[in-house]
Amino acid sequence: MKTPIVIVNFKTYPEATGENAVKLAQAISEVSEQSGVAAAVAPQAVDIGLVAGKVGIPVLAQHVDPIKPGRSTGWISPESSKAAGAVGTLVNHSEHKLPIDQVAGVVARAKEVGLSTVACAADMKESKRIAEIAPDMIAVEPPELIGTGIPVSKTKPEVVRDSVRAVKDVNPRIKVLCGAGITSGGDVLKAIELGAEGVLIASGVVRAKDQRAAIQDIISGVVRSQKR
Ligand code: G3P
Repeated sequence: MKTPIVIVNFKTYPEATGENAVKLAQAISEVSEQSGVAAAVAPQAVDIGLVAGKVGIPVLAQHVDPIKPGRSTGWISPESSKAAGAVGTLVNHSEHKLPIDQVAGVVARAKEVGLSTVACAADMKESKRIAEIAPDMIAVEPPELIGTGIPVSKTKPEVVRDSVRAVKDVNPRIKVLCGAGITSGGDVLKAIELGAEGVLIASGVVRAKDQRAAIQDIISGVVRSQKR
């Protein structure tokens, strides 16, 4: 996945479930194409096939399990996500935390299957720990700011700056994103100025009255950063 990137996590919001997931993904895809800014979407597992068939931008799973296909009833195999059209997966999101050995297991299995990984971390310390596992991207998201509209990039800039530094010290190939409370292009611009290579965002786009206007504003932050 190309960076800088805006990844929109649909979580389980009704505004981004089923047909709403398709409509929102199409709007994000159109704005991404018009602006030339990379974007990706992470719908619920059951919506991956529906969404991936309708958009050209990368579709990510929100989670996969570190299991081999076969006798694993109720678990989500990386293979099934890929077959449905996902090109990558989030892992260890604050709302779906895993022990570190399982994060490593997901990253390893995703690699075997050819899925990119975006591992979430709560702070600089966890970002550093996860960097040792070498996912493709790490998204640092202080849990207390998630869904609040209080942007990490402006409220806790040190978390973004320090996480970027810590991850790059371990492995400069890992891309570092940030998220939590991001709702405007200005929040995104600030994140990029702090060294982030993109954002992971949910409510600011998904729950907006006008989802298309919201993603346009978010993406304008990346465009502004590229003009500096
Ligand atoms: O995965 C994105 C996320 O947890 C941030 O959520 O609603 O604060 O943009 P939100």
